[in-house]
Order: sequence, then C-alpha cells, then structure tokens
Amino acid sequence: MTLQQNNTEFEEFASDVARCLTSNNKYLSPKYLYDKVGSQLFEQICLQPEYYLTRTEASLLNKYAPVISKLVGSNIKIIELGSGSSSKTAILLSYLSSQKKRIYYFPIDISSSILIESERKLKSQFPNASIIGIRSDYDTGIDRAAAECMVIGNNNKNISYTKLVLFLGSSIGNFELIEAQSLLRSLREKLHTNDLLLIGFDLQKDESVLSAAYNDNAGMTAKFNLNLLARINRELGGNFDLGKFEHCAFYNLERHRIEMHLISKADQQLYIGALGKTFALRRGESIHTENSYKYSLSQIAALAEDCGFTVEKNFTDEKRWFDLALFSPS
Ligand code: AVJ
Repeated sequence: MTLQQNNTEFEEFASDVARCLTSNNKYLSPKYLYDKVGSQLFEQICLQPEYYLTRTEASLLNKYAPVISKLVGSNIKIIELGSGSSSKTAILLSYLSSQKKRIYYFPIDISSSILIESERKLKSQFPNASIIGIRSDYDTGIDRAAAECMVIGNNNKNISYTKLVLFLGSSIGNFELIEAQSLLRSLREKLHTNDLLLIGFDLQKDESVLSAAYNDNAGMTAKFNLNLLARINRELGGNFDLGKFEHCAFYNLERHRIEMHLISKADQQLYIGALGKTFALRRGESIHTENSYKYSLSQIAALAEDCGFTVEKNFTDEKRWFDLALFSPS
C-alpha cells in the first residue's frame, strides 16, 4: 500500500463528507462504514440472531458447494468482491480443495486489517491454494484481479482455468439498479463463456423480518451505523457527539429497500478539523448512510439478462429468504 493511495483516499473521504454535510439530502456512501472498527462490527452483526442473511447464505453454500464444484473445471481462479473475513468463502474453498482442485483465490476488500487477517487464516487452512489479497474498492479491484489472472494465464499456457467471481452477502443490494448493472456489465467484459458469477441476493419478504435484521436487540447495527461518525472524528478531526444521534433503519416498501439513517437529536453545529469548517444540522435531520435493496427472483433474472448473463441456477432456502444466483455469460 503506497502513501499516494492513502492520501487520495483521505481526500476522497474528506470531500465526500464535506459534500454530504453541505447538501440538503445528506447521503454518504456505505463503503465508509467499513474502517477497521466498522468491519469488526459488521462481523458481529453477522452473528446476531435477527440477521438471517449470513447464516442462510452459509447454509446454501454448504448445501450447494458440490453442485458449484461440478460446474467449474479442475483449475479455478476465484475473485471475490468485498471478501471481508472470507468465512463463507472458506466453506466453498474447503469443498473445492477436498476435490483436489487447483485454486487461485483473489479476495478484494476495502479494509486492509480484515484482509490481512483473513489472508493469514486462509493460507494456513488451505496451504495448497494460492491466495492473493487485493486491498481496494470494487472497480479498481476487479481490474487488478483481472490483470493478475492474465499473468497467471500467460505463465501457464497449457492449463485452462475457470474464473468464478463471487459477490456474496447481498452487498449488491447497496447499489442502485443502474450501478449494479454497470458493475455486472464491466464484470461481463472480463469473463469468458465458461466462467461463472455467483451473487448473493437478499429476497423481498415480510417487513417485520427485514426490520428486525437491521434493528437487532444487541444494538450491533446501531453501533455499526454510529461508528461512521466516530470514524469522521478519528480520521477527519470531527467533533461529533455520538449521543446526539440516533440509529434509524426501516423498510421502504415502495422501493424494496432497507434504509439506514443517522438522525440528529438536536439542532447542532459540527466542526471538522480536516476541512476547517463548521456544518449545521437541524433536529430530526438525517444523514442517510445506506440502502440495502431486496430483490425478487424475476428482478434477478431481468438484471442478469440486461447485463449479458443467463441465470444458470437459483439456490434458495426453504423460506425463500435468500438467493445465491449463479450467472453464466449468455
Ligand atoms: C454488507 C451491504 C450486505 O445490507 O445487510 C448490515 C450491510 N448494514 N446491517 C446489508 C449492513 C446494516 C449489509 N451488506
């Protein structure tokens, strides 16, 4: 990691925060929720009883790893967007390595701490796999992983590899439809006919189930959300008083999305050292920190088709709460 990258990231964070706090509709990209502390809090969220997503997806991976394994060849390059702790991917890696497959794994994550830690664990758990972590956001990460794959291809001209791109956890839900489409189209350009894309989608369901998942009793999601303000304090020299904000998450029925907000409990002035500026927030005003879109199977099929893919398989649980969709290039 170079200093240059850090500076650019710092500047991007600072200018996004400035833009957010001066606009009428205060919105910050959910990617900023994942600093070291935020990534750890997210891992805690995944363990909460109300947060069914991780458990359900893990059980689907367990159940369908043999099917996925059959569809990929014996040499495989796995690229994962937003790998986090890679704990779900370990389920798949474990099955694939039991089948004696030759595995390259490129986990891409925005948080260096969680990436280093998971790389270390995976290397000891899967000594025969080649693990190459890429600390980056999605767009740059995809390009870097594709470049690495090309080098491996050039060095092993006689071996043919299947690429398997993983985008788990319903992280795709953070995107607006047009953003999701542009990401999938750019992935499509980098895949060959026999490559595969496995995406985790959270499905539309009863509002009470969704609402509970983002308002867990232990208050982990609230902590995760409020950590964004603590991060601004730490990295940008802000003076946010976390006690003056409230975590708010609800299901927007018309738009099929969970919205997460931080609501100001008072009229307040906020000073941010790195910007040398003071910003005003009114009582009841919101900083919108995340959207998490929930899909239907028909929306998933339409998305695939619009981006040059065919839905090869939908792996869903009995309650139809979650879908692991396997896309192949059309
Ligand atoms: C990582 C985007 C899938 O939307 O469920 C969890 C993030 N936010 N609780 C989600 C999240 C609040 C999570 N994703």
